[in-house]
Amino acid sequence: MEKQTIVSGIRASGSLHVGNYLGALKQFVELQNQGHHCYFFIADLHGLTTPFEPKKLSKDTLDVAATYLAAGIDPKKSVFFLQNHILEHATLAWIFNCLLPLSELERMTQYKDKAKQHKENINAGLLTYPALMAADILMYKPTAVPVGEDQVQHVELARVVARKFNHKFGKTFPEPHTFLRKPLRIMSLSDPAKKMSKTGDEALLLDDEPKEISRKLKKAVTASESGKASAGVENLFLLLEHFGKQEQIAYFRDAQRNNSLKFSELKETLAKEVAGYFAEFRAQKKALLEQPEYLAEILGEGARKARTVAQSTLQEIKHRIGLL
Ligand code: TYM
Repeated sequence: MEKQTIVSGIRASGSLHVGNYLGALKQFVELQNQGHHCYFFIADLHGLTTPFEPKKLSKDTLDVAATYLAAGIDPKKSVFFLQNHILEHATLAWIFNCLLPLSELERMTQYKDKAKQHKENINAGLLTYPALMAADILMYKPTAVPVGEDQVQHVELARVVARKFNHKFGKTFPEPHTFLRKPLRIMSLSDPAKKMSKTGDEALLLDDEPKEISRKLKKAVTASESGKASAGVENLFLLLEHFGKQEQIAYFRDAQRNNSLKFSELKETLAKEVAGYFAEFRAQKKALLEQPEYLAEILGEGARKARTVAQSTLQEIKHRIGLL
């Protein structure tokens, strides 16, 4: 198998949910364990684009660090670091800002959604978010970027940036693929027309205790609109396909075909499987959060490794564009 160079990140904004896990983190661990060259980071600078509180930001960053490690990221195998520790990311983002037309940034779906959601704080960082993301990615010249479906548009923009840069200044960056597999979208439990996000009762958090998982799933919307297959039910099946057993999936699919599907039974089974799947994760994460110095040490070591690569890439780029 040819070794790929993989880069991806997760924002530092509260506890992660099963969407983040299935769309991103689980793939990170698999790719790492297949022996690819992996760079994984916490996008704490991106966390500043939506309203935040300093104390909570620090706490959330450590929380996400513990989540990565408890889920199986091994700092001996992957380069694991904080985005803000590598100053080169912000410099490269500025260079890309000067290369990207405003119109490309304005048409990004996430920008349009967030600008609607945070009308009181449509800051410039929200608009130039993809330039920083392109810098995060291209800095390490990856061949693949594992993300959930909602981030595909941003990875595509990073490819556009790579192409533009190469065209203008000579071949510097490979154009990374979004990923090797089909990107995934897990939907909200309370409004299955929306993607699962980090707020409210709509998200199953990786930290949720069994009772909480059960409570949230019980409330999950299963109603269908005008006889169409219910998006909520399909979302529950999608989760069962990832967390349940083959025979459970077959059993509930059969029941669905025979119109005898009991949502309460499906939800109970799913709750049990999800709770079991993350039991060890929860215990490990708790233990890691009790050792903040250890987490800081790991992130410091990761930053040293990432910095060496980032400094060399930035040097090459500066040379190409004529910065002394
Ligand atoms: P973030 O923190 O919003 O999400 C982290 C990862 O989780 C995926 N994801 C989902 N996948 C499936 N279903 C969902 N409901 C769901 N919700 C979130 C996201 O697609 C993402 O892969 N901009 C990025 C962070 C970032 C980054 C990067 C990623 C910064 N620089 C460079 C890759 C490369 C973000 O906001 O992720």
